[in-house]
Amino acid sequence: MGKVQLSPSMMCADIFKLAETVHLFEKHNVPYLHIDVMDGVFVPNIMLGTSEIKQLREFSKIPLDIHLMINEPGDRLEWFEPRQGDYVSVHAESTRHLQRVLAKIRSLGAKPMAAINPATPLSAIEEIFPDIEAVLVMCVNPGYAGQKLVPQTLDKIRRLRNMLDDSGFPDIEIEVDGNVTIENAVKMRKAGADIFVAGTSLLFRPGNMEDHILNFNRELYSV
Ligand code: DX5
Ligand code: ZN
Repeated sequence: MGKVQLSPSMMCADIFKLAETVHLFEKHNVPYLHIDVMDGVFVPNIMLGTSEIKQLREFSKIPLDIHLMINEPGDRLEWFEPRQGDYVSVHAESTRHLQRVLAKIRSLGAKPMAAINPATPLSAIEEIFPDIEAVLVMCVNPGYAGQKLVPQTLDKIRRLRNMLDDSGFPDIEIEVDGNVTIENAVKMRKAGADIFVAGTSLLFRPGNMEDHILNFNRELYSV
């Protein structure tokens, strides 16, 4: 298992406070900004695009964790100008040629990540472990913030961690996305998760965001 890392979900941020929010993440050495890209076809919503990505890159050096919830992502990877240090995740359900798309992400210089919806079995990705640096386990059905955890995804994280370790890929990281509260994050960490997408359940909820970051660090580093 790798170290605990936070990846704040920028679609949940208050756009009128974006500068101070990103500065706070820089102050606390947050390793990634999670960018949910939705096309209204693969998921029933439309979210962040190339313009937001370009502006965030000009504003901050924090690497991006680009979560593509779009059909046939392989045809559109260049739009997002993947960089060294970035993660780019594509859904196993979104393309017929997952291995090709993951190899293309690597050839563009970023770290490939395979994402799976709650209903998708782990067998959908077990042949492409050599092509990825991480797996994104969706713990809700993608499309919206503020949903409840699909409970069986906790055991899925555990089975994935075992599968990765047993098949000789202990360095592949597991990212979890959807209803990552502190309480759920502790259970996800115990199951083997490394990267925690923090949306409305964790950082972007009422209260002081800096306190939420400190609380997350305190609770998760002691698991
Ligand atoms: C869901 C998105 C998530 C979401 C997570 O489709 O991918 O990033 O914003 O946030 P909460 O905590 O609201 O589930
Ligand atoms: Zn996401």
